[in-house]
Amino acid sequence: MPVDFRNDQFNDKFEQLYKAPAQGISSAPGRVNLIGEFTDYNNGFVLPCALEFDTRILFRKRDDNHVIVHSLHYPGERDKFSVDGEIRQGDSQWGNYIRAVVYVLKRQGHLLCGVDLLIDSNVPQGSGLSSSAALEIAVGGVFNHLCQLNLSGEMIALLGQEAENDFMNCQCGIMDQLVSANGQKGHALLIDCQSLITESVAIPEDLSIVIVNSNYPRKLVDSEYNQRRIDCEQAAEKMSVTSLRDATIEKLHATRSMMSINEYKRAHHVITENIRVIKATQALKRNDMPTLRDLMTASHQSLKDDFEVTVPETDGLVEICQTALGKSGAVRMTGGGFGGAIVCLCRHSDITKIKSAVEKHYFSRFNIQATIYVSKTGDGLQVTVL
Ligand code: GLA
Repeated sequence: MPVDFRNDQFNDKFEQLYKAPAQGISSAPGRVNLIGEFTDYNNGFVLPCALEFDTRILFRKRDDNHVIVHSLHYPGERDKFSVDGEIRQGDSQWGNYIRAVVYVLKRQGHLLCGVDLLIDSNVPQGSGLSSSAALEIAVGGVFNHLCQLNLSGEMIALLGQEAENDFMNCQCGIMDQLVSANGQKGHALLIDCQSLITESVAIPEDLSIVIVNSNYPRKLVDSEYNQRRIDCEQAAEKMSVTSLRDATIEKLHATRSMMSINEYKRAHHVITENIRVIKATQALKRNDMPTLRDLMTASHQSLKDDFEVTVPETDGLVEICQTALGKSGAVRMTGGGFGGAIVCLCRHSDITKIKSAVEKHYFSRFNIQATIYVSKTGDGLQVTVL
């Protein structure tokens, strides 16, 4: 069970490991994406919200140039490396995220100091809720504070994305890192991934966000993810546009004969999804559930048929929740796909309908237990001196 940082035990553990108290804590949230999937790396629009689930890192500056990392989730394991010299992958998968951020900071020419770190997180892992972005942003927050780098939230987000792209080998876009850095409690964040201009959109008081994790084990996610990105870039090239952001359905149809079937389908998803994000943002502002429902249903269908990133388990969960909510809720898969979670928007009184439908139908159909989170939104990166 993760320990709450407000709870003395987290601080006590730090002191026990490093023989001195922590000087500060950096926390960054996971996210759920309401709509706008796989549009970020095509310079399009996305509408995620930061969650209350977050990753917290206690830190203390060292006198030498070593970074030492422990995690409450991997007791007995630690990662240790020097900020001097070349940063390479280590044996610890979670430790590599810290190395990745240090690698990018060094490449940008920042002077870094050694630090002792202790990590805790309650962001569900492997569920498409961005536990890795939360870790990258929290680590960025530590170095930004300790080494007085004066980086903005946006700059920390970009460095987190570079860490994924150039060190972790995942060609992700900017969505997860930017909402983890700059999200605002009670709001979704509309991001224009071309200009990086954002707008906080208030989530109506009577709207609940329910996340249902399929718990389907995600496999080959990075290679499939990277292939989708290549398909999109090739489709853009064939349409002679810099990115799919500048493509239109008319242009797509006119160029269809030059494209492979996959290039056509991936581009079709992205072009239509960008339009859905803008319409969904307006519908959210009006608290217009029927429109949100149509747009989220269409988004899921497009991710299933055109982008081909759903699995029977997430399709099944969407179907179960759509049937349970009828006209009074909006449902779709969320995040990087190939398993992971679905997101439902509904009125508070309808949450029980989701819970009982999932209990009744999911396990019996797929032989896996789902996990349901009635999730609250949270704030982006916060660094506090203790
Ligand atoms: C992952 C990536 C994001 C985004 C989503 C899909 O979460 O990290 O950049 O592409 O998948 O929308």
